Amino acid sequence: MLGIETSCDETSVAVVQDGKKTLANVVASQMDIHERFGGVVPEVASRHHVESVTIVIEQALREAGVSIEDIDAIAVTKGPGLVGALLIGVAAAKTLSFAHDIPLVGVHHIAGHIYANRLIDEFVFPNLTLVVSGGHTELILMNQHGQYELLGETRDDAAGEAYDKVARALDLPYPGGPQIDRLAASGNDHIDFPRSWLEPDSYDFSFSGLKSSVINYLHNAKQRGEEVRKEDVAASFQASVVDVLVTKTIRAAKAYNVEQLLVAGGVAANKGLRQRITMAAEEAGVSLLIPPLELCTDNAAMIASAGYIAYQQGVRDAMDLNAHPGLDLLSY
Ligand code: KG4
Ligand code: ZN
Repeated sequence: MLGIETSCDETSVAVVQDGKKTLANVVASQMDIHERFGGVVPEVASRHHVESVTIVIEQALREAGVSIEDIDAIAVTKGPGLVGALLIGVAAAKTLSFAHDIPLVGVHHIAGHIYANRLIDEFVFPNLTLVVSGGHTELILMNQHGQYELLGETRDDAAGEAYDKVARALDLPYPGGPQIDRLAASGNDHIDFPRSWLEPDSYDFSFSGLKSSVINYLHNAKQRGEEVRKEDVAASFQASVVDVLVTKTIRAAKAYNVEQLLVAGGVAANKGLRQRITMAAEEAGVSLLIPPLELCTDNAAMIASAGYIAYQQGVRDAMDLNAHPGLDLLSY
């Protein structure tokens, strides 16, 4: 299976065998290009995808030691994401599919993040995934492959988005998540930032209040001429995010009696979250999968992994496959 992912600022192509074995997973990141703008500039991202995609496809095939004739199917992210960026991957996938007569499978980006875990170990159902990326914060229940039930989601900012916005308030470079994670490791979480639990039975999340609270704290300190220890702000912010994420995830895991807990998306790379959820899962007696760091952030191996299941289930896309910037996981 050849996987292609271009939904945001990484041009990635992978070759995966049987949905499980990664033969190559090349990621060409544009992070340094977008850093000076403090965020991803969609038009710039599209242009870089155009320049990189052919080279990255060739490199992935070379690293996997296969030729295009060895590929059984092509999986490509069709949404959600930046429409111009998605279109480059979709066009590349359609071109290869047409030219070499290879079946084409469009994949949901978040299904990809979830299936990054299947590159580590087999799924056991029912399972529950905590999805935490730059655009999504969701609790997804799965009773079988390719079937997703939404238990809760963010009502405002996604977890990664909150990290990036707080990082910006702290004058840290983009993307802010890894920077806050690094600072938090040497900070003291003594600042009492709020935890947004919402209604007692809700599995939804909300991070905008926390973000405002951090920004207010920084403003007040500045007005009083007090020096702020960024490490402590980072550690206290992270403690609040992780507390809410882990508490709600474990509560849902118990309520739905799941066999397995998965963590997915860029924020799954967060050290604080990894530690806390590992401990909590152990305590709750539920098995846990978290992808290694390179499979948490955007990559094409996860798209090939999700695409393999869809391919086995008979999904085939035609030459009218389009990019869907707002694609819904539940109805896709
Ligand atoms: O899944 P991803 O690569 O792209 C999307 O699909 O959104 O996630 C990117 C997000 C960014 O907001 C980034 O700041 C965050 O993941 N992130 C982290 C860490 N590494 C990446 N957040 C917290 N701690 C990290 N170590
Ligand atoms: Zn992503």
